[in-house]
Amino acid sequence: MKFSFPQMFGAALIITLWLIWVGNIIGNALVHVDEVEAARITAEPKEGASAPAPAAPAGIADLMALASAEAGTKQFKKCKACHTTNKGGKNRVGPNLWDVVGRTKAAQSGFRFSDALKGKGGAWTYDDLDRYLAKPKDFVPGTKMSFAGLKKAADRADVILYLRSLSDTPKPLP
Ligand code: HEC
Repeated sequence: MKFSFPQMFGAALIITLWLIWVGNIIGNALVHVDEVEAARITAEPKEGASAPAPAAPAGIADLMALASAEAGTKQFKKCKACHTTNKGGKNRVGPNLWDVVGRTKAAQSGFRFSDALKGKGGAWTYDDLDRYLAKPKDFVPGTKMSFAGLKKAADRADVILYLRSLSDTPKPLP
């Protein structure tokens, strides 16, 4: 059986058009898969990025892991005018700070605390100390502690690590 040139040309044309059409369908399908895949990939880092957010408040724990009680002693010079640190030490302008980490707020005997601090409630956690020392009047509006605060988180971590050392049985680190 023999085909004439126009017959072969016609057949070739039809096959070519068919291949283009099929290729197009397959191509679209692949692109579609790529898009879905790309969307999935870009979605993943977003999920990942939102994950550390809840962990952010634990910053004091991370900072304390890097803190130095010795540097804290130096920072504490800013506190010395008002606070003693020895066991059974006197209250001055501010209460004695022996064993203050974990101590109930405004509980040091023989010191007249402000109603504001007495009303705050709870014990001095690392987190609360961090927030109080950052800006006392923000954390406890009406506190008697006239101290602007330690702006740098790392300085606060140093001081808090030092405060933790003022104890016979220092509390576990955060
Ligand atoms: C100008 C004096 C002054 C300075 C400086 C000062 N404090 Fe105080 N501090 C006070 C007073 C007064 C209070 C009591 C606050 C109240 O009753 O509202 C207090 C309370 C505290 C408490 C709570 C104690 C408790 O038993 O509830 C801590 C902790 C504390 N100070 C730490 C510090 C640290 C750390 C520094 C230095 C970075 C510092 N203070 C600097 C006067 C001072």
